[in-house]
Formats: sequence, structure tokens, C-alpha cells
Amino acid sequence: MTQEYINYLYDASPEARTMIESPYFRDLLRFPRHIYTNTFDHSVRVAVCMAWLSTKMRLSTQSAVKVGLLHDLCFVDYTSPNDHPGLYCFYHPEEAADNAKRAYGLTPTEEKAIRSHMFPLSLHLPTSKLAWALILSDKLVAAYEVMYGISWIRHTLSKKVRKRLLPALCK
Ligand SMILES: [Fe+2]
Ligand SMILES: [Fe+2]
Repeated sequence: MTQEYINYLYDASPEARTMIESPYFRDLLRFPRHIYTNTFDHSVRVAVCMAWLSTKMRLSTQSAVKVGLLHDLCFVDYTSPNDHPGLYCFYHPEEAADNAKRAYGLTPTEEKAIRSHMFPLSLHLPTSKLAWALILSDKLVAAYEVMYGISWIRHTLSKKVRKRLLPALCK
């Protein structure tokens, strides 16, 4: 994650620093996301997108950045076998909202936005502009990360093929 993105968030919302620099939030670095990235970087990207959208949609930038940063505050590695009950797409917004509320405090609108961010795969419906902005930002960033991840895998594989397989075949 580039420091430029993080500085942008510090400028957009003074509260962002408290969250980004806390060891609790930084623990998200350990949890993978969308093939090649981690949950910390993903959350920063969504928060940057939210900060930008907040100016277009006339939302509170502070709330937009906050829900962007905290929407996936769930400490489960969904890429590995684990004994957490239920489907990740349904339980992680609930756990993220509970964790975020306990650790940093949330307004009722922020809490509902986080709970509904997986819409239509969520137990809650989006009921505010903030919630719709979060759904849009999260989907856009996820699509970017998956595409980037696929091209990164292709690039790595083709490099390996060129380096190892081709010389072996040409012998
Ligand atoms: Fe999520
Ligand atoms: Fe997300």
C-alpha cells in the first residue's frame, strides 16, 4: 500500500489516523483478500474511493472514510479451512460492524452501512446513501483487485514458463 493513499485519508479525515495506526486495525495485514492483496490494503482502497465519492454524493467524508476502513474488520482467513460457522459473505459484515462499534464507535447509519455492504448477499438492506456508496466502492475495488490478481498470476506463470519450461523443452 502506498503511503500516498494513507496520507490522502489523513487529510480527508483526521479520525483515519487513529484507526490506521492502531495495532488492532493493522492486524488486518495478516488476512488475505482477493487473490493477491490483504484486508488492510483492501480497506484503505475502499476508504479512498469512499472519500472521493463523499464529495460527489454530498456525504460526510468522515463517515465515508470510517465505514470504508472498517467494513471488513473481521479477523477470519476465508482462504484457509477454518472452524468458523456459517458463510463468510453473510457473517463477516456482522462481525465487522460489531468489532468496529466496540473498538472505534459507530453512528447507527455507519453501523447499518457496514452490515449491508455485501448486498445482495447480506442479511440487511441498504437504507442510506452512505450504504449505497459503500456497496459501490467495495464492488469496484474488489473487481479491480481480482483483475489485477489474475493478471499478476498470469504474469508470474508466464515468467516461470519462459525461465524453466522452455529451456527444458528446447534441449
Ligand atoms: Fe466485505
Ligand atoms: Fe470489502
